[in-house]
Amino acid sequence: MAGNPLISTIKCIAGTRRSFLLSEIVPYLDEPLPVDEMYRAIAPELPRLGLTATPRGRDVEITKLVPPQPYLLDDGGRTRTGAFLEKRELPPALATAIEQYITKKVGKPWDDPVTLDRLRKAITSQKDDYWKPLHKRSLRYTKGYSVLGYLAYHFPVYFLQTEHLLLRLAGDGFMKKSMTVLDAGTGPGVVPLAIADFISRLDGVKASVYSIEQSEEHIEAFLYLRDAFVPRGGPVSVKPPKKADIREPLPASLPERFDLIIFSNVLGEFAGRDGDARAAIVSRFAERLAPGGAVVIIEPADEENSTRMRTLAASLEPAGLFVHSPCPLFRGTACKAPRCWSFATAPAIRPTRLMETLARCDEPYRYINTDIKYSFAVLRRAGIRREGARGVPLTRFLLLSKLHLHEGKRVNTIIAKMSAELGDAKNHLFKVCDGTAKAPVYAVLPAFHRTEGNEALISAGYGSVLELRGVLVRYNRAHDSWNLFVNRNTEVREAGGHGE
Ligand SMILES: C[S@@+](CC[C@H](N)C(=O)[O-])C[C@H]1O[C@@H](n2cnc3c(N)ncnc32)[C@H](O)[C@@H]1O
Repeated sequence: MAGNPLISTIKCIAGTRRSFLLSEIVPYLDEPLPVDEMYRAIAPELPRLGLTATPRGRDVEITKLVPPQPYLLDDGGRTRTGAFLEKRELPPALATAIEQYITKKVGKPWDDPVTLDRLRKAITSQKDDYWKPLHKRSLRYTKGYSVLGYLAYHFPVYFLQTEHLLLRLAGDGFMKKSMTVLDAGTGPGVVPLAIADFISRLDGVKASVYSIEQSEEHIEAFLYLRDAFVPRGGPVSVKPPKKADIREPLPASLPERFDLIIFSNVLGEFAGRDGDARAAIVSRFAERLAPGGAVVIIEPADEENSTRMRTLAASLEPAGLFVHSPCPLFRGTACKAPRCWSFATAPAIRPTRLMETLARCDEPYRYINTDIKYSFAVLRRAGIRREGARGVPLTRFLLLSKLHLHEGKRVNTIIAKMSAELGDAKNHLFKVCDGTAKAPVYAVLPAFHRTEGNEALISAGYGSVLELRGVLVRYNRAHDSWNLFVNRNTEVREAGGHGE
């Protein structure tokens, strides 16, 4: 019962002093408590309050954590990153390291016909497995060839995808001048290696990247690629992965705080198995977030994985984690993600030499994986409004939750664009959201109504905030969703926000 008054007292004192002893707050309490009892009551709340505790004899010192200095993406970093992404290519040194690792592992050249055939089998069986119901999957990565198949087929796309996401995170202020990162379920190190590569093009950023992985085969591949690709003594120190299960407590040897905690293509494997373990895993890891830090969840873009990830992200609010992006926050509402299938895209990558060699067979399309489509959520501790819709009088625009009151009418509304093109030659179609909708909402622009005045609907990036003036509201009974019809008289204008 003493919890709440105690927490508010601690908050109040932490607001005026950088550090204090727990014994010092006794005079402020109506019901004084011994220090050890106070500590037990407040310990779980400290990360949320941005505080940390250090034993001082029989007392405990409480200290305010100071957020590390953010890194602001400068022109040089932006230009070099842009030039790299424009090439749409896995860095050649990494592509070569993957080929060499395969050669080393199988004891034959990577392009030996037998090796290629086994790689093809590993890739097809991994893909077949992926489409099975969750409880029937066996994505265990215990055998050599399954990891080699992953390197050949998934690694290049996930690597470039991570670089696109890092650029977004840098633009949103989540990069620090000196940062500590944790990648959970790292596999062969896609995320740590992409971080090392991304930071190599920035000035004045350094990072220590930690990771957790349960498969020894993946860890072996990770270490080989790291040693071949990440320069020793460079700005990024990629630590050897800790062999551990992410469902267990974090390994003791990891740092206390992380600026970024990343789950890339790993949580989906736990949805539905023995109940949903994902929220518990994420909130436990998030207890280790540094002030100003973020948890990033990435999942494939298919409807099942994507919608499940969105529901997971929205369900973490009681654990004190708030979605920062890509969802629109300008209405200040907590989205419950009703059937939200939303994913980011980026230009397809060029196939690697390994992919092209694998594709020299009867069914080439099975071995070429170049499309970048991914669902992501960035979560942080404080529900802070993202920029967007700055200076826009929101009250003049209809909330999407009120569309049912305006069926068949033309309205003005303000939304974030939450998909790439979903339409066809006749109609442009985009998912849109303002964080209040109770059913999915789409903006539809018939191709023959496209004008300069509504062009922004097509050209704006994922997450961009747009004013739509004069859209016709229609209910789509078959899909229980709403359509906002844009015609040649509709004005579409960027209102700020975070498009790519
Ligand atoms: C699909 S891979 C993703 C690898 C990497 N994060 C990426 O995005 O490419 C999933 C990884 O999570 C690992 N993994 C699955 N369950 C795990 C667990 N309980 N603890 C630790 N690692 C786990 C797998 O071994 C595999 O390496």
